[in-house]
Amino acid sequence: MRILGIETSCDETAAAVVESTESTNHNKDTKNKTIRILSNVVATSLELHAKTGGIIPESAAREQIKYIIPIIQKSLQDANVSEKNIDALAVTIGPGLIGSLLVGVETAKTLSFVWNKPLIPVNHLIGHIYANFISDAKQTHSITFPAIALLVSGNHTDLLLLKDHGTLQWLDGTRDDAAGEAFDKIGRLLSMPYPAGPVIENASKKGNPKKILFPRPLMYSNDYSFSFSGLKTAVYREVEKLKQKQKNLDQKTICDIAASAQQAIIDVLVVKTLRAVKEYKVQSLLLSGGVAANQKLKETIELAIKTDKLQTTLFVPPKNLCTDNAAMIACAALYRYQPETWQNVTADPELYFD
Ligand code: KG4
Ligand code: ZN
Repeated sequence: MRILGIETSCDETAAAVVESTESTNHNKDTKNKTIRILSNVVATSLELHAKTGGIIPESAAREQIKYIIPIIQKSLQDANVSEKNIDALAVTIGPGLIGSLLVGVETAKTLSFVWNKPLIPVNHLIGHIYANFISDAKQTHSITFPAIALLVSGNHTDLLLLKDHGTLQWLDGTRDDAAGEAFDKIGRLLSMPYPAGPVIENASKKGNPKKILFPRPLMYSNDYSFSFSGLKTAVYREVEKLKQKQKNLDQKTICDIAASAQQAIIDVLVVKTLRAVKEYKVQSLLLSGGVAANQKLKETIELAIKTDKLQTTLFVPPKNLCTDNAAMIACAALYRYQPETWQNVTADPELYFD
């Protein structure tokens, strides 16, 4: 089966053609799905938003209206297919910015009607998790259920228990800022461009993560809640204090603050995630969302798994599939194939887990 995926929930305009083939695993009498990306096109208006220090929803949606048709055309061209070779469409219906979501949803509905193809509405958050099931990541066959998923993106920090493809149990999430948002806000305090996650990661390589002991909110709380807004305030206070001595912070100081703040975020994520891994005794741990592109986070989790001698395998999508893309949306639709008639598909900016 071949699906054209469309993703426009935030500032990206993305389309991808993804194909699944099934083979029988005779030993276990089960079917294996192999998911292959035939094309994966992403246009971003980040340059525009880097200038304003964040996303202006109205400008993001205006850019997406310009990009959407050429991006879909390019995804078909790159995959070397026409609409005749597509079996279904999948589109992100939420959560996200309403103006942005509407661009993708209305385009997908129109194409579904005109091409007479089934349309699968996809939750963006579930899409992120399914980036782990794309076979290009060379990992698919070894993911076993139950699994724990940590979703860390610009707007979300959630821990989930995946019982099978149809059943997800949300364990808990952030009470205030998301992990990605914490990176972005801390980056702003350090005059870094948006999105600051990768910039902080780079600066951290030259900094001392033990230089400043920032708070690790809720790290040992008896639940799976997260809270990152206090950390942002602590960094703000530290920056203000240092600026009284030195009006413009030097590079070494900036790198030390970046490394110390990154370490605080990672420590909390790792402790909470491993707690869930142990409680539910899972053998697969899936990372996803933009912050999963952070190499230090991946290395720290891998080390913690080893230190605690857990029989758990960590799965992380390649970097380009951690951040927003349409291949993950098409992949989620292939595993959770629930087509809707186009009239019933609507954008839902507040959508959460089912
Ligand atoms: O998943 P995503 O592309 O978009 C949302 O659905 O929100 O995540 C974007 C977030 C931004 O906050 C960005 O700063 C963060 O992911 N991010 C990173 C890294 N790359 C992207 N955070 C930390 N380290 C990175 N390497
Ligand atoms: Zn996302």
